[in-house]
Amino acid sequence: MVQGYDGGVRSTYRACMGQKTDNQPMQGKRILLGVTGGIAAYKSAELVRRLIEHGAQVQVVMTSAAREFVTPTTFQALSGRPVRSDLWDAAAEAAMGHIELARWAELVLVAPASADFLARLAHGLADDLLSTLCLATEAPIAVAPAMNQLMWRNAATRSNVELLTARGVRMLGPGVGDQACGEFGPGRLLEPADIVAQIAPLLSPAGPLIGRRVLVTAGPTRECIDPVRFVSNRSSGKMGFALAQSLRDVGAEVVLISGPVTLPTPLGVRRIDVESCEQMYAAVQRELPGTAIFVGTAAVADYRPLACAEQKIKKTSETLALELTRTTDILSQVSASTPRPFMVGFAAETNSVEHYARTKLLAKNLDLIAANEVGHSKAFDCDDNSLLVLWRGGRVELPVSSKRELAQALTGLIVEQYLEQNAARERGSARELASEELATREGARAS
Ligand code: C5P
Repeated sequence: MVQGYDGGVRSTYRACMGQKTDNQPMQGKRILLGVTGGIAAYKSAELVRRLIEHGAQVQVVMTSAAREFVTPTTFQALSGRPVRSDLWDAAAEAAMGHIELARWAELVLVAPASADFLARLAHGLADDLLSTLCLATEAPIAVAPAMNQLMWRNAATRSNVELLTARGVRMLGPGVGDQACGEFGPGRLLEPADIVAQIAPLLSPAGPLIGRRVLVTAGPTRECIDPVRFVSNRSSGKMGFALAQSLRDVGAEVVLISGPVTLPTPLGVRRIDVESCEQMYAAVQRELPGTAIFVGTAAVADYRPLACAEQKIKKTSETLALELTRTTDILSQVSASTPRPFMVGFAAETNSVEHYARTKLLAKNLDLIAANEVGHSKAFDCDDNSLLVLWRGGRVELPVSSKRELAQALTGLIVEQYLEQNAARERGSARELASEELATREGARAS
């Protein structure tokens, strides 16, 4: 049960994240530290020292602009490794090529990350060694931005940061305060100690869902009328994608089965694109084995045209009747499967939200349902939402917030209910086992 829920959407998430205590999360870890051009680059020297003190191996890669602020000699002395800068350095490439370097890294940390570097990273440029490494690595990427406050507030930087965050790049800061240029505002590089504290969890992934597989459906489906037309709905997929990301953040292996949307795939999430309900169902069936939690956020079409015309339908008559037939209810089908995962559904309602949601919770045999009011610019295709979360023993209202924050709070509730159900199951089988043993012993005594 949710104890003392304060209505803030972050508290449940924090409570459920679990604090794995690992005293040496950085020992022996391979960190590729990118240094880009900015006055804050001098602080990166201190950052290298701290990382080394924590037992990490640090390979510094500088952009050419960074070399205008600090010399490579400083970093070489502190890290004990020659600094890399040039994509075309034949001798360095012969020792460890850029692809090997990208593979070597267990974490890519860019500090300071200039506005220019964030723009290049957001747009996938590979015009120097550091940007190429970021494109070629499978390691998590964390960036600590540092720039003038107006550059940070600029719309171009804002949208680059949003894009990078949505892809799973971790933003460390920036801090707010006095700037080297004499101004005051957001854009200060975080202190090296704070950067070290924030990257530690990235190096030793922890979380209550570690080792658990979660299947998430998201977005709308498209049901074919003819080769150029379809029936669909207004779902943007934002809620499902945000949930996939926050479930990954608590350690889950996340598979995201998505209808047609225009969203980037969160880093570390495996995505399968589909169009129709039947394709989504086929993908779900393929991916279901081994799934611990199923989350149906997709706005699956309830009906599809009875047939998909082979040729484009011509406008020959004044009216056109489209005969529709029911699609497969994916959520109900998965819920009826054995073994049955922990089932999370969504309900989008225009009225009597709680009544319809509770009916659906029971009818589809779900463990938890998140309901929202839709229509009149609510919920569908917008960034903010509110949710009413119901399960058999309780309810929680998550107030209006960004879908990202709601996803985190909902993840907290999913984790809590899932773990509670598992614990209850274990207690039940322990009791069963104990009574079986007792019966065997008593049987033996009687004979
Ligand atoms: O019955 P209704 O469509 O309102 O239920 C919504 C829930 O059921 C959502 O979780 C949605 O993903 C799921 N659903 C499904 N397959 C369908 C229709 C809905 O998985 N064909």
